[in-house]
Amino acid sequence: GKTILITGVASGIGARTAELAGQLGADVIGVDVREPAAAVGSFVKADISTKAGVDDLIARLPQRIDALCNVAGLSGSTGAASTLAVNFFGLRALSEGLAPRLREGGAIVNVASIAGYGWRANLNRAASMVGIEGFPDVAEVVCDHAVRNEEGYPVSKELLLLWTFRAAHQDLFKRRGIRVNAVSPGPVETPILKQFRTVLGDARVDSDIARVGRAGTAGDIAPVVLFLCSDGARWINGANVPVDGGLEASINAEMF
Ligand code: NAI
Repeated sequence: GKTILITGVASGIGARTAELAGQLGADVIGVDVREPAAAVGSFVKADISTKAGVDDLIARLPQRIDALCNVAGLSGSTGAASTLAVNFFGLRALSEGLAPRLREGGAIVNVASIAGYGWRANLNRAASMVGIEGFPDVAEVVCDHAVRNEEGYPVSKELLLLWTFRAAHQDLFKRRGIRVNAVSPGPVETPILKQFRTVLGDARVDSDIARVGRAGTAGDIAPVVLFLCSDGARWINGANVPVDGGLEASINAEMF
């Protein structure tokens, strides 16, 4: 079977994606900073919030991987620096570090969010942060770019979307036909949603859910992530796929 590396497997969307990939016959390597409750293929404990954590993780991974699903993420409740470190800089360092081990025609799928759709409005700052190469001192980046704590999460997802567009055309990946795509869920019933309720307020989360009738489930997101990894998605590259029950359309349709 194919070897698929999935981060964030101890909970929510990552756990469901790992379970489904296993059911579909993949060899799953699950990564998380916490131990998962249910066994997922082979598990590697790692913290992707630091350069040392990412380097150590890469050193413990096999030489050949078919797909990388970047699912691990923080809600923003721990502050802008930690959130940007996990949701963007750590994720990108892992992806770039693993690029040489991804097989030709392989795939990377980044779980972004509808929260990242401000990238166009905030393009200057987001582009300047994406332009920082390697794994920087994230606290310094937050300070230099005046990212307030409550902006940490949306900014991390803006950077992730911009990087997805760029990485799809970057030699490191493109040369060997490695596709890089993003999935943007709306509100999904997982432990992180409680934290979003604290950060954004119940009213905001409930009104998003009300627009589409229910919150998503991890099972609504996982198949789309795995589809983007598969050969059926071979002509999808650098794309953002909203998986939000129609939430984005409902917001867009109100603009005219
Ligand atoms: P979750 O909180 O259930 O799972 C996130 C996982 O990431 C946890 O198992 C956590 O331990 C892991 N993680 C956190 N920091 C890590 C680190 N430093 N190193 C390794 N692993 C780490 O949340 P959920 O919902 O499964 O979120 C998955 C992704 O989906 C996240 O990127 C999130 O931003 C995104 N998302 C979730 C939405 C939702 O409403 N649940 C909506 C839009 C996007």
